[in-house]
Amino acid sequence: PGDRPHGVPGTDFQPVPPNTEDRVVIPEGYEQDVVIGWGDPVVPGAPEFDFHNQTAAAQEKQFGYNNDFAGLIPLNGSGKRNLLVVNHEYTTEPHMFPDYDEENPTEEQVRIAWAAHGLSVVEVQRERGGGLTPQAGRHNRRITLNTEFELRGPAAGSDHLKTSADPTGTKVLGTQNNCAGSVTPWGTVLSGEENVNQYFGNADQVTDPKTKQRLDRYGFSGGASDRKWERFDKRWDLAQEPNEANRFGWVVEIDPNDPDSTPVKHTALGRFKHEGAAVHVTRDRRVVAYSGDDERFDYIYKFVSNGRMKPGRSAHARRHNMGLLDDGTLYVAKFRGDSPESEIDGSGKLPSDGEFDGTGEWIALASGDRSFVPGFSAEEVYIFTRLAADAVGATKMDRPEDIQPSPVNGRIYCALTNNSNRGSAGNAAPDEVNPRIGNKHGHVLEVDDEHTGTRFRWNLLLVCGDPNDPSTYFGGFDKSEVSPISCPDNVAFDRHGNLWISTDGNALDSHDGLFAVPVEGPERGKVKQFLTVPVGAETCGPVITDDLVTVCVQHPGEDAEDPSRPTSHWPDGGDSRPRPAVAVVWRKHGGEIGQR
Ligand code: FEO
Ligand code: CA
Ligand code: CA
Ligand code: CA
Repeated sequence: PGDRPHGVPGTDFQPVPPNTEDRVVIPEGYEQDVVIGWGDPVVPGAPEFDFHNQTAAAQEKQFGYNNDFAGLIPLNGSGKRNLLVVNHEYTTEPHMFPDYDEENPTEEQVRIAWAAHGLSVVEVQRERGGGLTPQAGRHNRRITLNTEFELRGPAAGSDHLKTSADPTGTKVLGTQNNCAGSVTPWGTVLSGEENVNQYFGNADQVTDPKTKQRLDRYGFSGGASDRKWERFDKRWDLAQEPNEANRFGWVVEIDPNDPDSTPVKHTALGRFKHEGAAVHVTRDRRVVAYSGDDERFDYIYKFVSNGRMKPGRSAHARRHNMGLLDDGTLYVAKFRGDSPESEIDGSGKLPSDGEFDGTGEWIALASGDRSFVPGFSAEEVYIFTRLAADAVGATKMDRPEDIQPSPVNGRIYCALTNNSNRGSAGNAAPDEVNPRIGNKHGHVLEVDDEHTGTRFRWNLLLVCGDPNDPSTYFGGFDKSEVSPISCPDNVAFDRHGNLWISTDGNALDSHDGLFAVPVEGPERGKVKQFLTVPVGAETCGPVITDDLVTVCVQHPGEDAEDPSRPTSHWPDGGDSRPRPAVAVVWRKHGGEIGQR
C-alpha cells in the first residue's frame, strides 16, 4: 500500500505468522511452485517416479532423497538458464518403500538408497514472471555413492585412507550425508559430508585401542548399522575395513559446469562432521574457507589458501581455483568473552556491557606437511582433526551449522542450532559465546575476521526463541516487532546484505521456516518470517536472488510413526506419500523479493 512507510530493501514483506499448515505458507502477494522432488527424472532416459516399482537403475537417474543444500549457478548473463545443484543428505528407508523390513532390507532397497544419496545437477529455466522449470540439459548429472571421487591435498594417499578396494588411498566411491554447502566464486560447489558415522556397522568389533578411540570421537559405535549396508558391501563393515570410515567426513567440490569431471574430496580442510564450507576471497585474492563441525561441543574451523584465485569461471580458472583448497593452513577457533565470567549465569541475561561479544584467535593446526599440534603428524591432524582440535583447547560450541561470509560486509555468520547438554553435569558450562544452559533454540554468531590473519572480534546477532522469552536477543531490536525463530541451520544473503536464515527442528509450537533479518542500520535484528514448510519438514538450502527465493523442503512427514499413514501429503496432495522437494517463491506481478 502506498501510504505505508517503506521497510528495509529485501525484507519489506508481510511476515508469515507461526503456523502448522501442511503446505508452504508464503507472504501475501507472492506465488510459489515446486521445481523438482525425489524420484523426478534428472538424467536423460530416466523413468518417471513410481513409488511402488522402484529400482536402483532408475534412482541413479532420478532426483535423490532429502534435498538439503541448493545452489543456483547462472549459465548465461540473463539469468534465464541456470544449473540447480542440490545435496541429498540421507535416506529414511521406512518412508521410501511401501514394504520395508528394517531387520531385512533387500539388496535392491540398499542399492536404491546408495543411489538416492549424493547430489543432483539439473538445468533449470527461469520462466518469465514465474518459477524454475527443469530441462533435459547436457549438464544434468547424478552423483551417488557409486561415483568415483579423487582424494586430494596433503593427506591423500595416507595409510589411514587405504582400503582393500583402494590400496592407493586416493579414490573413494561416493559422498554421503551432504548437508549444507556453497557456490564458489569460480562456479563450483562445496558440500559438507556430515553425519557419516551412521552408515557403518560393527564398530564394536574393532579392537585396536587407537583405532577405537578415533572411531569413538567421530561417533562410530555399536554393532549392526540401522540400514544394514554392511551385509551387501564390506566397506561399510568397520571390522573388515576400518579405514573406509576415514574416507568420509570431508568437504567435497563438484564442478557442475563439466558433467564429466571427477569430484574432489579436499583433505586440507580437515575431517569432521562438516555441515558445509563457504569461501571468502581477500583483496589479494587468497581464499579463506569457513566450516563448522555440527556436533554438541564441537568446533569452528577455517582454511587459508597459499595460492591466489584466478578470476572468471573458465575451465582454466576453475581447474586452478579447485587446487587452492589443497594447499594452505587449517585453523580452529578459540573465543573469549569481554564480560566478567560472573555475569554469564546461563539464563541468557545480557552482561552489563549489553552484549554477548568479545575477541578470539585462530589456532593453526597444520599447513601442508607441517603439524603444529604436539603428538600429531600433519596427516593425523587432517584425518583426525577433532582430536587435534581437542588437544589445542578450541572453544566447544553449541552445534555449529552453516557458516557463510557476507559478500556485502565481509563478516562471517554462523548458525549455532541448539545444544540440550550445555551446562549439564560433566559438560562444558555456558560461556559468553554459548550463553544459555540447555540451549534449546540456538543462536546466530557474527564474526569480524581478519580472514588471512589469526585474530577476530565476535558478537551474537541473535539469541533465538520466542521474543517473549527473556533469554532471547534480537540484535538489540524491539522484540515486540520480530518473528519467533528457533534452531537456525542454514544462512544466506540477499544482494542488500540482509541475512536469511532457515530453521531445522523448531522447538516452539510451529513449523520450520525461512526468515530475513537486516544486519545493518536501525532495523538490525528485526527478524521476519518469509515462509513456513509442511508438517515434519525442515527448511534448508535457501538461495535468495533478486526476484526468486529457492528453498529445499527436507523430510516432510518424517515425524510419522507409521509411514503408511503419512502426516504430510506435500507436495503431491491427496493421500500421497510426502516427497522431499525444492520449492521456489516469487512476487506475483514480478519485481524484487522484499520490496514494495
Ligand atoms: Fe545436516 Fe547439521 O544439519
Ligand atoms: Ca560482552
Ligand atoms: Ca543442516
Ligand atoms: Ca540441522
